[in-house]
Amino acid sequence: MANISTSFMGINMGSPIIVGASTLSNHTDNIKRAEDAGAGGLVIHSLFQEQIELEAMEIEDELLISSDHFPESLTYFPQMKHAGAREHIMWVEKARKEVKFPLIGSLNAISEGKWLEYAKQLEEAGCDALELNLFSIETDPAKTPDQIESQSLEIISDVKSSVSIPVSVKLSPWHTSIANYAKKVAEAGADGMVMFNKFHQPMIDTEKESIVLNWCLSSPEESRVPLRWIALTSGLMDVDLAANTGIYTAEDVIRQLLAGARVAQIVSALYSHGLEHITALNTAISDWMDKHGYKTIEEFRGKLAKHQVNDPYAFERAQYVSLLMSAHDPRAKYGLVHGYYPVEVRPGRVSG
Ligand SMILES: Cc1cc2nc3c(=O)[nH]c(=O)nc-3n(C[C@H](O)[C@H](O)[C@H](O)COP(=O)(O)O)c2cc1C
Repeated sequence: MANISTSFMGINMGSPIIVGASTLSNHTDNIKRAEDAGAGGLVIHSLFQEQIELEAMEIEDELLISSDHFPESLTYFPQMKHAGAREHIMWVEKARKEVKFPLIGSLNAISEGKWLEYAKQLEEAGCDALELNLFSIETDPAKTPDQIESQSLEIISDVKSSVSIPVSVKLSPWHTSIANYAKKVAEAGADGMVMFNKFHQPMIDTEKESIVLNWCLSSPEESRVPLRWIALTSGLMDVDLAANTGIYTAEDVIRQLLAGARVAQIVSALYSHGLEHITALNTAISDWMDKHGYKTIEEFRGKLAKHQVNDPYAFERAQYVSLLMSAHDPRAKYGLVHGYYPVEVRPGRVSG
């Protein structure tokens, strides 16, 4: 039987499937179930900068009773009153005692601040690695992409220098040059990258004419974005890649491994099918490996990365070429041609 174990940022994992950061990790029972189901590891939901700031304000408020900004802040973040940063750390300590598989602590850090201290505390609480979620919505038109990126790169190198466990960065797919930013993230010291973060987008309810804030699960189609960028960047930087967004099936996981990812983080699939889905994924990955004659993941990982395939432009021009070719297909005029890239791209470098 095939061996589906792998490693991510030097951490050994029994499976390439990691439970991504989400409210699934709010209950230690779920964390235990994920371990029992065979997950390679789990990312604990993020400790948000606002939680840390709110707590800092609380402390300040205790010291300076005259301050009136605290009640106002509670209106902004009412749910955080009983979930400050210290409680988060205590909760991580509790989770650590209950499971043995790798736990990755997540920090949502958007600007310099006290949270560096908390990165250290997450390490002390027993996290095997940290994941930096650099999510922010930049609305200031005067702020340049360079300023925003420089700020995030500073955060990465600050965190790296404050902890000794590996640090991964959860990237956004919205950079003018993902390749350039990924390179800079690697140079700032990141040991791993998660491609990609999925942002919580607001929606408008037309009946109530109000803004709705609810989580929206991914669609499987979305996994093509990380697939492309993992294939384009894997092997080019000294970092381990984790695929994330829209990964539901064993086939989806295998595709990301073929493109060069070491692991796949999944969340929506687990909300849809339950944590036991991990066991089914592990079995199906192992069956596929047996069928294809692979004993270990390393034997096929990255086989279809850009630098390994016979058409190195496949991941760059796939949609364009596909569109051009479909124009010659008689079904095109009925709008029936969509789906996979019609030209088969196989492993093996172009010679000459
Ligand atoms: C309910 C819910 C809570 C989430 N909480 C976090 C979080 O705390 N930190 C984070 O970095 N991502 C969070 N995410 C994003 C997921 O980790 C993941 O990046 C995203 O859902 C895409 O993966 P998927 O397609 O497998 O769902 C959350 C997602 C959901 C659905």
